[in-house]
Amino acid sequence: MRQPLVAGNWKMNGSQESIKTLLSGIKSGMGRVNNAEVAVCAPAIYIPMAQAELQDSGVAWGGQDVSTEASGAFTGEISTAMLQDFGCKYAIVGHSERRTYHGESDQYVAKKYAAARAAGLVPILCIGETLEEREQGITEEVVARQLDAVIELEGVAALANGVIAYEPVWAIGTGKTATPDQAQDVHQFIRGRVAAHDQAVADGVRILYGGSMKPDNAAELISKPDIDGGLIGGASLKADDFLGICEAAN
Ligand code: PGA
Repeated sequence: MRQPLVAGNWKMNGSQESIKTLLSGIKSGMGRVNNAEVAVCAPAIYIPMAQAELQDSGVAWGGQDVSTEASGAFTGEISTAMLQDFGCKYAIVGHSERRTYHGESDQYVAKKYAAARAAGLVPILCIGETLEEREQGITEEVVARQLDAVIELEGVAALANGVIAYEPVWAIGTGKTATPDQAQDVHQFIRGRVAAHDQAVADGVRILYGGSMKPDNAAELISKPDIDGGLIGGASLKADDFLGICEAAN
């Protein structure tokens, strides 16, 4: 049985004040959540606040990106050891915003996945097609290519230590959610692709949906057989909305 995971991705949002409110709101509402594992991925500079507030709360925390390198002359980067120094469990890798605005290739993302995993962090590998790619009918080809980069570098067993997030780029921050059936189709395809290498890994790996997930559409999405939770952007910035999604997995 895969335990659902609901992970917030705050992106580049928040201030000390707003994040304090958000963290305490999530913490105090955790009594509403009885099934999902819950995590928040904070901007790096606010991770110490998450650590201080969420210690022993049952909510995990993580980074939104991580370096492929261990340490040294890599200005602006955050290493796996630094994330772990502040108690992070998770690290998002390959978010479409990193792929698009920072030119991260499938191979580079696979290296980030490998670095996170080698360090003992749980990588959340984001994959997903653009609107143009969906309209061209190449959704499966795109997500397969993004997934295969990790399998080629690391072997399929590496997916047993991570989480996959299917995030159709056209659904991110647009209010356009994939329908539960559209999402399920791709999730099933992804799981099948993993199963072609290793059935046990495919059965165990959690595949989250991301893209305008909200309290009012979360239950239907998460009820689909291959959707194991969500990676939540906009709706993770308000404790009540975020908790509403976590509750949808109850
Ligand atoms: P959204 O973002 O929920 O705001 O669409 C999801 C994501 O980018 O992870």
